[in-house]
Amino acid sequence: MKFKEYPKSKAMYEEALNCFAMGVGSQVQSFARPHPLYMTHGHGSKLYDVDANEYIDYLLNYGPLILGHCPKVLHDAIRTQLDKGSAFGEPHPLQVEVSKLLIEAVPSFEVVNFNNTGSEAVQATLRLARAYTGRTKFIKFEGHYHGWMDNVFFSFHPDTNEDFGTRENPKPVIHNYSKGLPRNVLDNVVVLPWNNLEYVRKTLQDHKGEIAAIITEPIMSNCGVIMPRPGYLEGLRKLATEYEVMLIFDETITGLRTALGGAQELLGVIPDITLGYKALGAGFPFFVYGASKEIMRPVSERLVVHAGTFNANAIGCIAAKTVLNELKKDNCAIIHRINEMGKYMMTEIGKLAKKHHQTVRVQGPGAMFCVSFHNQEIWDMRDAFIDTGEKYFIFRELLLDRGVHIFPTEKGLWYLSSAHTEDDVEKTLRVVDEVFAEMAKYM
Ligand SMILES: Cc1ncc(COP(=O)(O)O)c(C=O)c1O
Repeated sequence: MKFKEYPKSKAMYEEALNCFAMGVGSQVQSFARPHPLYMTHGHGSKLYDVDANEYIDYLLNYGPLILGHCPKVLHDAIRTQLDKGSAFGEPHPLQVEVSKLLIEAVPSFEVVNFNNTGSEAVQATLRLARAYTGRTKFIKFEGHYHGWMDNVFFSFHPDTNEDFGTRENPKPVIHNYSKGLPRNVLDNVVVLPWNNLEYVRKTLQDHKGEIAAIITEPIMSNCGVIMPRPGYLEGLRKLATEYEVMLIFDETITGLRTALGGAQELLGVIPDITLGYKALGAGFPFFVYGASKEIMRPVSERLVVHAGTFNANAIGCIAAKTVLNELKKDNCAIIHRINEMGKYMMTEIGKLAKKHHQTVRVQGPGAMFCVSFHNQEIWDMRDAFIDTGEKYFIFRELLLDRGVHIFPTEKGLWYLSSAHTEDDVEKTLRVVDEVFAEMAKYM
């Protein structure tokens, strides 16, 4: 099979490796084949690299760019704010405006607080849950990614070479590819397979009075986009209430994409504490967590520390305000459109795979979805113990060579934005058709 070359990116990667520790900003970027590509700029739905190639971008910076690259409305608002200052080290009116917009949008919010990244917001919610309940442990599910901090960075990637135990007796796994994590982080956590209420019930019973929180993505988005089984989230809600445990929804990916109020609005299950959203700053770092006034009391009364030099800075706030106002317009027209567009692409990619006798599974709610090279139903991380990496890498590289840019590794997501046009979608489907035809010659 023949692949294109990217000489300027290749040279830049080699140069970068001498001065920039991994040659890339976040480790996942380094898995890209043939090597990471260096981008010069992005506009609308397109990205451009140093070799002067143009791509239709479905990675969207791993999700945040819900308005595409360089959205005028956002950049105009930020330019105006820049002339007034970027961060004050004092409160400012925009914080109040953004808080109100979020409380209006998200069912579980009565009071909110701001961070800059999802990893930080996860930590804030776990600390809050502990402070509120007076307990220490929490339940984390296999295959769910909650950022890269020590206390949550385990058991999220399906790898047949590691010993995860059985579903009934799961073993937490600190993955081989990250050294430096202390094993005692596992003392405070119970790791369980997702989508089975019995495991949760048993754990809550066995650890009665010890568990502060159950943290979950409401749609398992970091392992192939797995929907909750019917009744699963409702069951978690009931169990959390019964055992007086905080139910935390990590809506980093699902928030704003699946519905303005996130998956909790789409699926009708309201958690105690919510954190999100990659899309909130649409490319500028801005995260939120929040809950009812009662649950947020330890934070409001300053009984737990919430700190950060850049928390609630004016650039993040103006970005969030602009994004929320854009997404709310015309009854959330953007959110509806990207979900419909995504569903159409999912159906058409499925048909093209059939046409070329490729075994492919496409799943997701629409605004984000996953294309995998197997045809097995997957309901938890263990179902996803299928190594289709090589096929995915080839698929991805053939797409890239034809101007379509997607997630570098299998089980990653295709993301859509308001900047994607019908023409982009049709062009992409023509490329997918060509790529499946090419793959069919060899595999
Ligand atoms: C569900 C979920 N939680 C937390 C995070 C961590 O967010 P960040 O990369 O902003 O630290 C991510 C990142 O993709 C995520 O998908």
